[in-house]
Amino acid sequence: MKRLLIAGLAALALTSSAWADGDAAAGATVFAQCSACHAVGAGAQNNVGPVLNGVVGRPAGTYPSYRYSSAMRKSGLTWDEATLTQYLKGPDKLVPGSKMIFPGIASDTDLANVIAFLKQQKAE
Ligand code: HEC
Repeated sequence: MKRLLIAGLAALALTSSAWADGDAAAGATVFAQCSACHAVGAGAQNNVGPVLNGVVGRPAGTYPSYRYSSAMRKSGLTWDEATLTQYLKGPDKLVPGSKMIFPGIASDTDLANVIAFLKQQKAE
């Protein structure tokens, strides 16, 4: 009985870590909402928003030749899973005065997936 319980817990831990990592392929679909303003991939150019290649691990407000709000430049944030999750839930809540006009993603699954997708977009 004890052994079964341990096996069950291990399986649970495995599935929840898979969830936390997100599904990049599903995230590509979520990114459709972002692509009105953001480009990724080879040859991506700044648009309404900055290029998002290499954004995971990048200090906020630092992509070359993009005019960020002063709120973003002064935020002192670095984009990782935790900060991206908060920003994408409500940009203006994490960075008051951010010029990203986006209502936010409510679904935790969509959030994890779009962040997994962003992780795959390496800096040029
Ligand atoms: C309506 C246009 C628009 C949409 C849609 C949009 N963004 Fe943005 N985004 C912006 C703008 C503008 C900025 C710059 C914000 C600033 O300077 O305050 C920005 C900034 C960002 C940043 C910070 C980048 C950096 O270099 O510091 C991230 C990360 C980001 N957006 C991710 C996303 C994701 C992911 C989505 C889709 C879920 C999305 N955005 C949807 C316009 C948009």
